[in-house]
Amino acid sequence: MKKSVLLFATILYAAVSACTQTVQPKSGFLEENIRFAVAQEKLQVEAIEKSGKVLNPRTVANGKVKYIRMEDWTSGFYPGTMWYLYELTGDTTWKTIAKKQTEAIDSVKFLTWHHDVGFMIQCSFGNGLRLGEENYREVVIQAAKSLSTRFRPVAGVFQSWNVDKGWQSERGWECPVIIDNMMNLELLFNATRLSGDSSFYKLAVSHADQTIKNHYRPDYSCYHVVDYSLTDGTVRNRHTAQGYAHETSWARGQAWGIYGFTVCYRETQDPKYLLQAQKAFEFVVHHKNFPADFVPYWDFDAPKIPNEPRDASAAAIMASTLYELSGYGNGAYYRGWADKITKSLASPAYRAKLGENGNFLLMHSVGSIPHGAEIDVPLNYADYYFLEALLRSK
Ligand code: GLY
Repeated sequence: MKKSVLLFATILYAAVSACTQTVQPKSGFLEENIRFAVAQEKLQVEAIEKSGKVLNPRTVANGKVKYIRMEDWTSGFYPGTMWYLYELTGDTTWKTIAKKQTEAIDSVKFLTWHHDVGFMIQCSFGNGLRLGEENYREVVIQAAKSLSTRFRPVAGVFQSWNVDKGWQSERGWECPVIIDNMMNLELLFNATRLSGDSSFYKLAVSHADQTIKNHYRPDYSCYHVVDYSLTDGTVRNRHTAQGYAHETSWARGQAWGIYGFTVCYRETQDPKYLLQAQKAFEFVVHHKNFPADFVPYWDFDAPKIPNEPRDASAAAIMASTLYELSGYGNGAYYRGWADKITKSLASPAYRAKLGENGNFLLMHSVGSIPHGAEIDVPLNYADYYFLEALLRSK
């Protein structure tokens, strides 16, 4: 067993080395970024292969790469990053790694104790299926079934977090729904297309409609957490968990909302979702604290701006979705913003040097400042959406 793992690692190592040599150096912005991503990810893959395990990197903590278990909400991003490298380069070596990383989290399809199964399966198996792995179809459908167990008909929403343990149990919530949950809807739309079962689609639409109604302020900024009553479906609380305060605007949450409603528009063609995404983006661009380099502070209302950490992950999510938005009208405007944000992320201020930053692509993201976790670090989802933005820029 150990021998075969070593043999596989050696073959993969040689193949990855070869594949980096096949990417021809070119002068364009896109090519240069792809070349960097290939070289940096090659180092990440080498480190993983040396362990003889299928490790899933999330961030850097105490100077070391932190690997995560498949239950972690971010476990789909590294497999997804491998799929994007395959798509960006056409090199099947990345496909081999993507498949291995993706299939290592297969049992996520049965996960029902948090809502992030949408992120996890869509970024990994969803991308693999899109790129031709037909046998991933059932995984996507099963994951949508698992996610559907979290739908609460009385409120018309998916419950994001359980409240029986951990820090969530200390907040007095009944049915907390976070804006991030908009990102899990793509899996449901996908599952309806694949299975012909419209129930996934209907639940997604219900969640999106309730989110428009209850998560957004008149200026199109959003709350992070809306807590619903499980007795009558009314809103009990509008809170934050990862933002500075209940009434401030957490940057990544704003980005998740823009992305999520853009997906809803793509899937339903209902213009109200497009309007929601566009207005939520207008909140960002007109905010007095939106920085000149277009990479938001972690919260638009953080008290010590400009001496507050930036969140490159929020910028990467926005850049990617703005490329998609540019296909739905006012193209030059949205593409212009997408290009500006992507170029800023690719500058030395945010893009790591080769072999540094735990071999992640982007520096300067924030996980959760109120929890004292992952402050000014690389994050696997910042890299995933950065590559997605590069791909979409094509
Ligand atoms: N979905 C968790 C986060 O954005 O940090």
